[in-house]
Amino acid sequence: MDSFRIQGGRRLAGTIQVEGSKNSTLPLMAAALCTDGEITLRNVPCLSDISNMARLLRELGVDMDGDCGTIKMRVVDQNQVHARYDIVKTMRASICVLGPMLARRRRAVIAMPGGCSFGSRPIDLHLRGMQALGAKVELNGGDIVVTAPEGLKGTTVFLGGPFGSTVLGTANVMCAAALAKGRTIIECAACEPEVVDLAILLNKMGAKIQGAGGPRLVIDGVESLGSADHTVIPDRIVAGTYAVAAAVTNGDVTLEEFPYDCMLSVIDRFNEIGVHVELVAGAEDPMHATVRVTSERILRPTTITTQPHPGFPTDLQAQFMTLLCLAGGNSIITEKIYPERFGHVAELSRMGAQIYRQGPTCVVSGGVPLRGAPVMASDLRASASLVLAGLMAEGETEVSRIYHLDRGYTRMEEQLNLLGARIERVREGSGVAGETPVPAAAEA
Ligand code: EPU
Repeated sequence: MDSFRIQGGRRLAGTIQVEGSKNSTLPLMAAALCTDGEITLRNVPCLSDISNMARLLRELGVDMDGDCGTIKMRVVDQNQVHARYDIVKTMRASICVLGPMLARRRRAVIAMPGGCSFGSRPIDLHLRGMQALGAKVELNGGDIVVTAPEGLKGTTVFLGGPFGSTVLGTANVMCAAALAKGRTIIECAACEPEVVDLAILLNKMGAKIQGAGGPRLVIDGVESLGSADHTVIPDRIVAGTYAVAAAVTNGDVTLEEFPYDCMLSVIDRFNEIGVHVELVAGAEDPMHATVRVTSERILRPTTITTQPHPGFPTDLQAQFMTLLCLAGGNSIITEKIYPERFGHVAELSRMGAQIYRQGPTCVVSGGVPLRGAPVMASDLRASASLVLAGLMAEGETEVSRIYHLDRGYTRMEEQLNLLGARIERVREGSGVAGETPVPAAAEA
């Protein structure tokens, strides 16, 4: 397994562009199952999760042209309905083939995703949505078998759970309802920008979806969907991660394709801490803005609580924890989406961070300099936080198991090196001690 060797303490400066959103692309790709027409997606990032989704779609009878950048997809075989455990276990987002497959093929067999490195990740809301639309759900040998021989029928579905709505659950129900008979109302729908992006694609394909971006979606089912050409939105989590990289190195970084409009909660916290995110261009198209990120010499502690969109995203919690290690005084971070998502805490502590965790809350006593150390990545965003810590630490940091990072950031080391970082990718077998291969844990 590859690792990163990072020489800390270098100030980042320059310009980079934010790539297309992973979490938008995955359900957009699955939506190709909803039609016999050709779906073209542009701005697709080059990530292992995208390759895994492509592999799954091929197994489900989709002809794929291209791996990233621009990809074209078309269904050529409707008979395959099984998303096998082999793939599902590497990527939880495989679940987003459920709604599209059920809508067109009236049957979907999906290996039940297990837990992940940051806790149990149930799919009860997805299944509740399918049942409300008239499907039957059974569990057979570790597979969820969902069938609707008579087709799906529009209804009212409530998608709220103990931690708010569900992003991929909303995507699934939206795809299924787009081809159901009659009107479906999804109440307590996820408001994430990735859900909006999917609704835009489905509407281009001929669906009738109103209200995306708000908690109530109204979907009038249509007989069939057609071809479409769509450009994926920029990745707000990648954008936020690189903005933190600028801040922790006291840098001066310009980020193009910054989805400003869906990052207001993040920008609000940056302002509070003393990191400036200045809109340089794109006020007329704020999902594709250019911003300049700089910071004050003395950062201020703050309070962060993760919430469903438009609240502060759980996928930036770990990166902000690293940033708050620099802010003199006590910051409080509360994780309200995944209360166990703290795999980075023990590793940051190895670098000298003063973090006290109790349940879903951490107190970060910032202002103590971090020192380079060997640390181990446990999931995608935890890995990002460790790379950020390596950038600001004194000396050398080695982050192992960075295959997690390759799931969600395209060649992160090259992007950061363009800005003046010094990160070396150490290939497996080239002398890194203490590595034993383990299978990729599904987390996204
Ligand atoms: N939940 C339930 N029941 C369900 C589904 C979810 O109780 O049936 C709970 C979850 O346990 C969690 C909350 O609801 O507490 C929200 O989960 P959600 O279903 O929204 O998560 P997801 O759709 O599986 C997506 C992203 C995650 C991101 C979450 C939350 C993709 C591919 N994944 O997951 O991204 O953390 O939304 O915003 O879109 C990542 O990119 O690192 C990542 C983990």
